[in-house]
Parts: sequence; structure tokens; C-alpha cells
Amino acid sequence: MATSDLKKDHLFVKRFGEVIQKCSDKIYADEDSNILLEDLEIVSVVMEELIDTFHHGKEEKAYFPNTQNKNSFSEDIRKFLIEHELGRRIAGMFKRELLTRRKCIIEGKQVDSKEPIARFLKSYAVFITDHLEKEDKFFDIIESKDIISIDEDKAIRNHYELCKNKSGGQARIEELLKLLEYLEHRDWMK
Ligand SMILES: [Fe+2]
Ligand SMILES: [Fe+2]
Repeated sequence: MATSDLKKDHLFVKRFGEVIQKCSDKIYADEDSNILLEDLEIVSVVMEELIDTFHHGKEEKAYFPNTQNKNSFSEDIRKFLIEHELGRRIAGMFKRELLTRRKCIIEGKQVDSKEPIARFLKSYAVFITDHLEKEDKFFDIIESKDIISIDEDKAIRNHYELCKNKSGGQARIEELLKLLEYLEHRDWMK
């Protein structure tokens, strides 16, 4: 169903949140010698493609437009969209920071402090925790009240497929999930 599909996505979003929280903690504690720049670049790819384009895309383009006129949900949805924007801004700053570091390494220049990286990761982890909690409650209400009709549900799920294609299709989503798994198994996650 359209709602449970998003709740299921939230499981990988939550896993991603745990990875970046750990990553941030390690950097702040100066125990990040085994966190490679490549690992952080993978974090950035998962953030942008899996969390934002794919999951937030499904919510913004398929689910929310179909639910915002029901009951009094428009205010909740407006807040969710603002939060997505916040997430996008943090993801953009994080990506720029990584690009700068990569450039410094290539040019043999001194690399700046890692503090902004730790800060952006922590901010994104906080955003995820807070946002998921609110959305899950919202989805529970929709499910308990049986608000979406069978036809609407089908239409939303069809729209999800378009979102998936926009994110590079099933193969790319599976690749991104494998990248998340890769991060979860890095030695700095222990
Ligand atoms: Fe969500
Ligand atoms: Fe969301």
C-alpha cells in the first residue's frame, strides 16, 4: 500500500541516520583516521539519490499531493516540505565541503578542519530522527482512519514507479542500498 511503502522506506532512512550519526561522533572524538574521504563521498551519494531524490521525491510528487486536501493535513504536509528543504540545504553544504576537500588533496593544498563535516552529518542525522518520528505518526493516522481509497492508493503507487525510474530505476536503488550496507560494515561503524 502507498502509506506502508513509505513507512518501509523509513527503515533504510533510519539506518542511514545511524551511520552518519556514528560518523559524526567519530570525527568529533578525533577517532576518524579510518573514515576515508571515499566513505564520505558515498554518504553524500546515498543522501542525495536514495534519501532525497528517491524517498522524498515519492512523498513530494506522489503521496503528499494526493493527501494534502484530505482532513486537515495541509499544515502537516507544509511542514514536512519545509523540513525536506532543510535536509536538502544541509546535503548541499555537506557535498560542497567534500568537493573542496577533494580539490585540496588533488592540488596538494592543506586540508581544512573536519569540523564542518561532523557538523553537517550531525545536523542531517537530527533532521532524519525528528522528521521520521513526525511522518510516522502522520502515516499511522492516515492508516488508522482508512483515508486513502483503493483507486487513489493504486494511482500513488503507480506514481512511485515513475519516481523510481527518475532515480535510475530498480537497479540503481538496489545499488544505493548496497552502498548503505557497505557503509554499515565499515570498520569505523563498530
Ligand atoms: Fe519520509
Ligand atoms: Fe519526508
